[in-house]
Amino acid sequence: MTASFTATICVALATMLAATASGQTFAPPSGATLAATCTGCHGPNGQSAGAIPALNGRTEADLLQAMLDFKNDRRPATMMNRHAKGFSDEEIAAMAREIATNWR
Ligand code: HEC
Repeated sequence: MTASFTATICVALATMLAATASGQTFAPPSGATLAATCTGCHGPNGQSAGAIPALNGRTEADLLQAMLDFKNDRRPATMMNRHAKGFSDEEIAAMAREIATNWR
């Protein structure tokens, strides 16, 4: 590791600590940012080419209900039950809105 790289990391960490200490909060991630994490399995814009179900063309209400059901163990799953638990209800709503609106 070079000295300048180390210095850069130190400045970045100090900036983050300063932001935390002064009570600033980071902006919550947008629906688009959150939904981008779904494309690894569900395909770009949810256009899955494999065994994992496609998400494009689904309604906001349908996506919201499916995610909340996974989160609350009301719907059987191998993967999504664990995945959905990592998001707040507000984040799930933002993702459902983003996917229903912008994924074609
Ligand atoms: C690690 C792979 C993976 C990731 C990442 C992933 N999913 Fe899934 N998803 C699955 C699988 C597999 C299923 C089928 C149900 C199951 O077995 O869990 C599924 C099913 C679904 C379903 C139900 C679709 C249907 O027609 O039954 C929805 C809705 C869904 N996922 C939404 C999302 C959203 C929103 C994200 C991003 C936060 C996401 N998924 C991220 C693997 C994934």
